[in-house]
Amino acid sequence: MKKNILITGGAGFIGSHVVRRFVKKYPEYHIFNLDVLTYAGNLENLKDIENEDNYTFLKGDITDENYINEIFDTYKFSSIIHLAAESHVDRSISDPLAFAKTNILGTMILLNAAKNTWNNDFQNKVFYHVSTDEVYGTLGETGLFTENTSYDPNSPYSASKASSDHFVRAYGETYDLPYKISNCSNNYGSFQFPEKLIPLFINNIITEKPLPVYGDGNYTRDWLYVEDHAIAIDAVFHKGVMKETYNIGGFNEWKNINLVHLLCEIMDEKLGRSSENSSKSLITYVKDRPGHDLRYAIDASKIENELGWYPSVTFEQGLEKTIDWYLNNKEWLSNVISGEYQEYYNNQYNK
Ligand code: NAD
Ligand code: DAU
Repeated sequence: MKKNILITGGAGFIGSHVVRRFVKKYPEYHIFNLDVLTYAGNLENLKDIENEDNYTFLKGDITDENYINEIFDTYKFSSIIHLAAESHVDRSISDPLAFAKTNILGTMILLNAAKNTWNNDFQNKVFYHVSTDEVYGTLGETGLFTENTSYDPNSPYSASKASSDHFVRAYGETYDLPYKISNCSNNYGSFQFPEKLIPLFINNIITEKPLPVYGDGNYTRDWLYVEDHAIAIDAVFHKGVMKETYNIGGFNEWKNINLVHLLCEIMDEKLGRSSENSSKSLITYVKDRPGHDLRYAIDASKIENELGWYPSVTFEQGLEKTIDWYLNNKEWLSNVISGEYQEYYNNQYNK
């Protein structure tokens, strides 16, 4: 009998890489991908594995309690890797309730369904919550987030993720529910929706639209290639200690403005733009994001020392692969930037 594993949010950016990895690498598992397909979810992201025998797509909403209870009853999942979420900070500023609903209530509904289905038989069971480093708030110019850093979220997005982390932990303490949590830094790579910094700017460089840098651009993020995040999730899922948290990061801090310059330079070369005609001329400083966290940087020594994980690609390699992917997948880009998203995209300079 195959082990039934539920992955939520598998049609999104990181989820699609996790689903692909698990379907291909573990034929002994049956992977159920549960996704409601918001603007950020797209089944085109999983075309290459959609017909595999050990894969099933379930279209559904994690906030629909009846539906969630029904699928837990039917498939008796032994493990859950929970990624479904509203994930974009700017959207959480304009619509915080949507983030509370999906990220907090949705996580609680899944936790309840797992608790009721497992009914105190916790052997070989795990609820794995995929979370973010933004729960720790912001760093100053120095220091790193460790697993012991206090939670101090600043945006509605990070507050909703912090809250869901707390509920996962609370179910572990109160009901002894077996759980794992990982908190990861900024991901980049293929299939990322072009509202996040790197794919948005790649797309705008291709189409020669302005590159809206928030504030003075002196904000720092720690970038990790998405396939390395999927490898880390695999490591935590299989080897991580129950009821532990693991920080995941890229050992790779960049100030936004320096990253944007690097992107322009690589893309100018690929697009044959001369230095007089550089994409850097598209850089436009715009109003800052409210509550903008100054700096994120992860101390990933726990996962490195205990689980033997370390990023497999350098930033230069990862960025090159990512840019090439977007240049070769313009149809995917234009498909996802259509419909409901078009208005949001066109308004990006008015933020
Ligand atoms: P994403 O926005 O690309 O994908 C989210 C997916 O969840 C989409 O497919 C969407 O359709 C689905 N979804 C949203 N609401 C749902 C609902 N109510 N029911 C079912 N499905 C729903 O997000 P991502 O960037 O791939 O992030 C995935 C997870 O990883 C999130 O939990 C996020 O907080 C976390 N994370 C992201 C990053 C990052 O840099 N992107 C870093 C650390 C952690
Ligand atoms: O740290 C992990 C988090 O990283 C994840 O939990 C989130 O889901 C993910 O969206 C990401 O959050 P950020 O807010 O850091 O990512 P974003 O790509 O939106 O922004 C990266 C930085 O670039 C941030 O300092 C804001 C800035 N920025 C972003 C956009 C979209 C700009 O200057 N201009 C922009 O247009």
